[in-house]
This record gives sequence, structure tokens and C-alpha cells, in this order.
Amino acid sequence: MIALGSDHGGFELKNEIMKYLDEKGIAYKDFGTYSKDSCDYPVYAELVGKAVASGENESGILVCGTGIGVSISANKVKGVRAALCHDCYSAEYTRRHNNANILALGGRVIGVGHALKIVDIFLNTEFEGGRHARRVDIISKIEENN
Ligand code: RB5
Repeated sequence: MIALGSDHGGFELKNEIMKYLDEKGIAYKDFGTYSKDSCDYPVYAELVGKAVASGENESGILVCGTGIGVSISANKVKGVRAALCHDCYSAEYTRRHNNANILALGGRVIGVGHALKIVDIFLNTEFEGGRHARRVDIISKIEENN
């Protein structure tokens, strides 16, 4: 089950992502926001971050205007590796090399078609492990030490 969240800046793209996941038969939980009214992106980033870090949801997608605010916020939750990806190569490699567990997108930055392609790649690419697991473990140690 995918955890989804956005602020007002990402609300429309989140709706498009939900439609796409419905078409693909992929289950998700929408943590809000639920309208275009102005709201605070860190609130939704924390909700999705906690849902993913706890294991309640296997991965997450967060959308704000740029994708930057939600990625910064979600990465404050221990165990979250949120990656802001606006190209297909980054989406593939953040799964293969960083084992990213949350994809961040900017609803005001990229078009819907491109965003959905990035979502598809993110959800269908496996972590390679090996030397990359060692590096991700070092990221976890940074969290422990700071
Ligand atoms: C909201 O205006 C905007 O600041 C937010 O969606 C996001 O882009 C923050 O990083």
C-alpha cells in the first residue's frame, strides 16, 4: 500500500496520481490534503513519513509545489529516504542505489504525463543492495549520530 500526501500546491497532481494508481489496481492511502485550500506541507510530509518509516505503508509519494518542502520535511523522520525526482533516470537510480522509500514531486514543476512515468519507474524498480546497502547503512548511522 502506497502512502500519498500533498499540500494545496500538489493537490491536483496527487489526484492524477490517485487516478493512475486506481487504473493500475495499486492500493494507496491518501493522507491529505483533501482540498485546494492553502495548508502547510510539513504536516502531510510528516504523516506520510511516519506511515512509511513505521512499515504501515511500503512506500510513499509526496507532492507540493516544488517537491522541495515535502522532501526536506519527510527526511526529518527517522528511516525516511525521500527523493525529489523530476526525471526518469533519477527515479530509477534513487530506487536502485539509495533504496528511496518516498518519491517527492513538484506539482508546479512538471507535467502530469512525465510525473506518472516517474511514479511508474519509482514503484517498479528494486534496490540493488550490495555496495549500495553499505552506503544506505551509513545514512542510517548519520541519523543515529545526529
Ligand atoms: C506553497 O505555496 C509552496 O510553498 C509549497 O507547495 C512547496 O512548494 C514548498 O516547498
